[in-house]
Amino acid sequence: MISQSNPDLTNTDQVCIFEVGPRDGLQNETGFIETADKVRLIDLLSNTGISRIEVTSFVSPKWVPQMADAKDVFEAIGRTPNIRYAALTPNLKGYRRAREAGANEVAIFGAASETFSQKNINCSIAESIERFKPVIEAAKADDMPVRSYVSCIIECPFEGAVAPDQVARLAEIFITMGCYEISLGDTTGAGVPETVIEMLNSVTSAVPVSRLAGHFHDTGGRAVDNIKASLDLGLRTFDTSVGGLGGCPYAPGSPGNAATGKVVNLLNGLGIDTGIDIEKLNEAEIFARQLKEGRQ
Ligand code: HMG
Ligand code: MG
Repeated sequence: MISQSNPDLTNTDQVCIFEVGPRDGLQNETGFIETADKVRLIDLLSNTGISRIEVTSFVSPKWVPQMADAKDVFEAIGRTPNIRYAALTPNLKGYRRAREAGANEVAIFGAASETFSQKNINCSIAESIERFKPVIEAAKADDMPVRSYVSCIIECPFEGAVAPDQVARLAEIFITMGCYEISLGDTTGAGVPETVIEMLNSVTSAVPVSRLAGHFHDTGGRAVDNIKASLDLGLRTFDTSVGGLGGCPYAPGSPGNAATGKVVNLLNGLGIDTGIDIEKLNEAEIFARQLKEGRQ
């Protein structure tokens, strides 16, 4: 039985790493990455002790061609018991596809910026909330955990700085709707500890810190500092990407999410357990880099 809740978030010596490389990292790659390579990457990750892996997205293949093989990837991966294999689902159609493919949890994804919401999912923030309601209802009926992202927690690539209370408002709405966790996305990697702390102070006044995850892109080179600042404020779940895969479509050539290996090393150095075998992770990181380098 897969637990609905996070790993022991009351234990301050434990942090949950949520691996997003196969989805957030690979979705930005131009040119199709072979399904077999995606599967190999996920299988290597399944061998590391990581407990949650975001495998792919069930989005429109016209919008994100790289994720067009979502069903095939899910069907081909080896499943390790106790790992939750997750997928992004922007609407009911995506949710049904994910459930059929055997996802263990799904994620809706909203944004704290109107323009980003329009550009990313082709609707306003208010419309996105209406679109997510039936997804959450269907998931509840299936006993499927739903996570939610809030993008642009610090900055929108189109509108600039985002107000912390707008992030808090949306996070609270998604928790009230039934999401078990909110992943706070620094989409453009513009955050620095000062702005991250200001944003988190606002969000934690609306949502318990145990329900929050940090999703820091490393575009500005401060992702690890932002994770440290978030740890100090009590966050215990962080999204990372194997080998730092990915990039920001709004900043060509930029690095991707905080690299899993870098974050695990940081946490180990602080005496915090992640349950991840660093040597096995290294094998996955080497393969992730080969995938990336093979394409440069
Ligand atoms: P739309 O065009 O407004 O949707 O797109 P629609 O409902 O009008 O449908 C248009 C067509 O798409 C139809 O097909 C639908 O069937 C199809 P047609 O009749 O033209 O042949 N369609 C779908 N096909 C497969 N799966 C689906 C699906 N839905 C519709 N689920 C939509 C709206 C949301 C679908 C589109 O905008 C979309 O797919 N967007 C996804 C964008 C995306 O994946 N962005 C990256 C992920 S978010 C992110 O990276 C940020 C994050 O990492 C956090 C952070 O860093 O901030 C999470
Ligand atoms: Mg992201």
